[in-house]
Amino acid sequence: MEREKIDILRATGEPLLAWYEENRRDLPWRHTRDPYRIWVSEIMLQQTRVAAVIPYYERWMKALPRVSALAKVEEGTLMKLWEGLGYYSRARNLRKAAQMIVHDLDGVFPDSREKLLALPGVGAYTAGAVASIAFGQRVPAVDGNVLRLAARVADIRENVLDPKVKKDVAAAMEEAVPAADPGGYNQALMDLGATVCLPNGQPLCGTCPLRGLCRARALGIQDQLPLREKRAARRRDQITVFVLLREGKVALRRRKDTGLLAGLWEFPNVPEAMDEGAAADALAEWDLAPLNWREKRTARHLFTHVEWDMTGYTVQVRGEDNQGFTWADPAMLSELAVPSAFAKYLAAAREALAPRPY
Ligand code: ADE
Repeated sequence: MEREKIDILRATGEPLLAWYEENRRDLPWRHTRDPYRIWVSEIMLQQTRVAAVIPYYERWMKALPRVSALAKVEEGTLMKLWEGLGYYSRARNLRKAAQMIVHDLDGVFPDSREKLLALPGVGAYTAGAVASIAFGQRVPAVDGNVLRLAARVADIRENVLDPKVKKDVAAAMEEAVPAADPGGYNQALMDLGATVCLPNGQPLCGTCPLRGLCRARALGIQDQLPLREKRAARRRDQITVFVLLREGKVALRRRKDTGLLAGLWEFPNVPEAMDEGAAADALAEWDLAPLNWREKRTARHLFTHVEWDMTGYTVQVRGEDNQGFTWADPAMLSELAVPSAFAKYLAAAREALAPRPY
């Protein structure tokens, strides 16, 4: 990157820190320097919005206030604490890393970017965020927000999602982080990106502390940066989901230990769109006989790279399945971690199993 652009980024430190003093969002993980707490918050925030994370963070810290507690937690409790946040490998990596810290590092939390990077689930962004916020290390935390901001402030016309360009911006940000308060600076960037320098061509430049510096604003092209290329379309998978009811219980099974939603509970399903006839054939293959087709519900769920188009049948059945399904009553259903991709069917199951007035 040209020296001039790097210098513009270096000049953001002072105005941003002054702005942050006045405008920082009051967030639960900003009341602590405990690296464990900051680390958990950053993992939760990796793919999830602040507002959604807050209640999960609070509940997690009540249940697992220290890294030692996380190292010992059972899988079921862990998944229950994470249920609804998505990307469940994040929770498993947290526990794995906690076990490393307790058993291999004598319980001492890794205190630099390099050491943090050795933890499972911790990439460059999270390592930079934790090292700067918890330990005051002078390192950046570059995510999509920071790339967008940098593209606008320094008028970067390349595709910032291109790994080469991203590396360039990250290198420039190494110099931009002020020694005075690296953690404050990185969080100021997060807040500015979330509240002022908004994506999709809608920056609120009038209130921006960087409006005097911003090249894109001076040129009137803040709506057009960063340049974006369309991401590849999601693959669309058709799925038929079965809410199978038998004697006050509903059938569930565990997903495979690898891949999407690994190890979580789900309603039995088959990877194709089925009409009622085909669905009845599927039931017969499982040795189940339909007694009453109660409802058909369709649903859609978007993952990062895949979309599920779901057709769901709520069916009362009899027979012993040959699949080893777990038949759950309402209490058990509340205990098991069923990912939110199945939310509509979870609701259907709860409604169907609820005692009915008559
Ligand atoms: N996004 C990622 N990390 C964050 C933090 N520490 N505060 C606010 N938003 C964030």
